[in-house]
Amino acid sequence: MRSLWAEVPLIPTVLYRLLTSNRGSSSVCLAEALAGIHTNQLWAERRVGLRCSIDLCGKHPISAVEVGTWYALGSTPLLVKNLPDGSSLTCIDNYSPTEGTEGSSTRMKLFASRAQSHAQSQVTKFKSIRPSVKVSVVAKEAKHALAEFADSSLDFIYLDGSHFFSDLSSEIQISLQKLRKGGVLCGDDLEVTPTPDLLRECEPQREVDVIFLRSGQCVHPGVLCAVGQHLKGVVVDNGHWRYLK
Ligand SMILES: C[S@@+](CC[C@H](N)C(=O)[O-])C[C@H]1O[C@@H](n2cnc3c(N)ncnc32)[C@H](O)[C@@H]1O
Repeated sequence: MRSLWAEVPLIPTVLYRLLTSNRGSSSVCLAEALAGIHTNQLWAERRVGLRCSIDLCGKHPISAVEVGTWYALGSTPLLVKNLPDGSSLTCIDNYSPTEGTEGSSTRMKLFASRAQSHAQSQVTKFKSIRPSVKVSVVAKEAKHALAEFADSSLDFIYLDGSHFFSDLSSEIQISLQKLRKGGVLCGDDLEVTPTPDLLRECEPQREVDVIFLRSGQCVHPGVLCAVGQHLKGVVVDNGHWRYLK
């Protein structure tokens, strides 16, 4: 309830964006209006998928990484609560999306410094709620932060940062090096299982945030192309995706 009240001052911004949007479709319009200002971006139905991915790591202490921490109000507390005792969680976010990219990531820039200071205060809170899990925040571009880990040293990586093919594609490739054999690589924003036909349809728009397919399905084309190109046998679970190395 407390985090719901935190959203109330943001309502006028959402209404203004909805009224001034020039997007044809109402759901793209709503997604963009909410982008960057809704402080918890983990949709309810995706919690189940993320929880299943964490459970696959077993009960022994693990080294986990989250990319795309934002306010540390969505996926982060779920990870902190459910990781085994003795685990570590490194939360990575650049808190400064690149200029010139289209869609929600650009709009998030406006709220980046507020999100970063909130994430730091959440870490202090996590220390008292769950002292057995060591949480830290790294404010860096994901591909650079991931590159600093030793090869095969991580058990679990959750990717919920950039939606653009160029970024996610590098993050997936580096993650595969840093993950131990049997480790879990998972992420958000994959609405459908990639197929050769879908990859062909999305490829020309893979540096765009959100599109509608010919079927009417709304997807993140960059996520679909990056996951489909690099990971064979990925499981899609209500927008959450997972791959076992
Ligand atoms: C959808 S939000 C994450 C939501 C969060 N996981 C939650 O559950 O509330 C995406 C985040 O990824 C970050 N981000 C985008 N591109 C990034 C990149 N290349 N490297 C690191 N972080 C990035 C943004 O700053 C933003 O905070």
